[in-house]
Amino acid sequence: MTRGYNFCSGPAMLPEAVMLKAQQELPNWRNTGMSVMELSHRSDEFVSVVSDAEARLRQLLDISDDYGVIFTQGGATLQFSCVPMNLIARGSGAEFLDTGAWSVKSIKEAERYGPVRVLASTKDKHYRHAVRAEDFQVSPDASYLHYTPNETIGGVEFNYVPESGKVPLVADMSSCILSQTIDVSRFGLIYAGAQKNIGPAGLTLVIVRKDLLGQTLPGTPSLLDYQAQIDQGSMVNTPPTFAIYLAGLVFEWLQEQGGVPAMQQLNEAKSQLLYDFVDASGFYRNPIDPVHRSRMNVPFILADETLNERFLAEADKAGLYNLQGHRSVGGMRASIYNAMPLAGVQALVTFMKEFERRYG
Ligand SMILES: Cc1ncc(COP(=O)(O)O)c(C=O)c1O
Repeated sequence: MTRGYNFCSGPAMLPEAVMLKAQQELPNWRNTGMSVMELSHRSDEFVSVVSDAEARLRQLLDISDDYGVIFTQGGATLQFSCVPMNLIARGSGAEFLDTGAWSVKSIKEAERYGPVRVLASTKDKHYRHAVRAEDFQVSPDASYLHYTPNETIGGVEFNYVPESGKVPLVADMSSCILSQTIDVSRFGLIYAGAQKNIGPAGLTLVIVRKDLLGQTLPGTPSLLDYQAQIDQGSMVNTPPTFAIYLAGLVFEWLQEQGGVPAMQQLNEAKSQLLYDFVDASGFYRNPIDPVHRSRMNVPFILADETLNERFLAEADKAGLYNLQGHRSVGGMRASIYNAMPLAGVQALVTFMKEFERRYG
């Protein structure tokens, strides 16, 4: 069976070149006589895998030495707790912008650890746009401001970086990291689950400004203490070694593609192609404010929703997989992360046109 195009929101498509390289190196990594999966995490060989992955990531995002990089586990969901455990005691409480399902989950978890204030929410607008810059003001003594730059389920993306003054800005970049250029120095902390733009599930990435640390809540497990993780090179315990190795290969692949600016250009071209087609069609539609549409997750609704099952079955047959929208919103969603080539989106548009011609 040939590989098709996988539009899953995560775990998502990985670059084929990365998988072929991993396949080739799998039984005997660099003449060690062992698979990289079998290396001791304390061995010089594996420590070099971690430091190589970190160096590549630092190059890709231009991360300065003021920031620590942590490879950990537990997904972005555990970061919903780790962030307040490590940062909430710095100030009067955590402030949030609510733009969808993932914002809501991050708020709910943070509430266990201290005062939480939601500065602005687009819930009453059915999350059809992001919070606008003029709609909130951060308290100068807040512990941090948290937001979700790209809401994976709703397909809503901020088209600006919120201004938080001296208050550290925290971003859940699970579904947009490495997809467009960012100025890391604008952020106090960035976190992301790996399974969309970084590598396989099981790995979580944290990038944190080191001067923000040191006020961890009492009772925080050492595994979840950013300072301890930085001090021990992400090895407070056995890290997800194979996932870190694969992330390193993805970072290398990104560098070969021209880095983040090249990805941004490609992602703009892919999403534009799909949105332009949807907007021009009377058969499909996307409900999100055009200025806040996601370049990574493109939801669309068929005019006749009784055709949904047929659409999905025929797409599957055409090698276009996992186009169903999230169970909470329905409809369709095409997740088009870095590893999705332009040809995949072109194939999707061709399929959608033909489907419309037959059933529209
Ligand atoms: C924006 C965002 N945050 C958090 C999560 C949860 O990630 P995880 O499953 O890694 O905990 C996801 C997963 O899809 C996501 O898209």
